[in-house]
Amino acid sequence: MLRVEEVQSVEFSSALISKFDEIVSRYPEGRSKSALLPILHEVQAVYGWLSSAAMDKVAEYLNIQPIEVYEVATFYTMFFLKPQGKYVLEVCRTGPCCLVGAEKIMDYIGQKLGVKEGEVTADGLFSYRGVECLAACGYAPVLQIGPEYTFYENLTPESVDQLIENLKNK
Ligand code: FES
Repeated sequence: MLRVEEVQSVEFSSALISKFDEIVSRYPEGRSKSALLPILHEVQAVYGWLSSAAMDKVAEYLNIQPIEVYEVATFYTMFFLKPQGKYVLEVCRTGPCCLVGAEKIMDYIGQKLGVKEGEVTADGLFSYRGVECLAACGYAPVLQIGPEYTFYENLTPESVDQLIENLKNK
């Protein structure tokens, strides 16, 4: 994954551009801006996050202003604006999950990984962050891991240990 300081400019691969073309073809002519969200997902899937250089390049491709890309990318929390670990553990920190220990689970994950929220482990594998309700309150505390957004429910320190171990061995 590219670090912030390594991203001065971005050149999308021809395969990625072809994917963009296919996405744009789903929309009526003159409405290519509608392809912005799925294109940003494709870029994030390749780079792991959205650098300013990548967003500028998307704006250039869609023939729109960079600010039009930034305002979308900064609105939706599923887009990462700085490098993340390969696995981002997104822990629900809304009321019902907090009532059954979500904050302790977040603290535990931080201790176990040796990083603070939003930081990336030295091996590049993990980062974590708190997110709002994941709509699985009955199974609290809960976390999800993208890009498939797999849910892990009824979390305990032991199940977190197991989860991290499984991901390391993947
Ligand atoms: Fe955590 Fe709803 S409050 S899933």
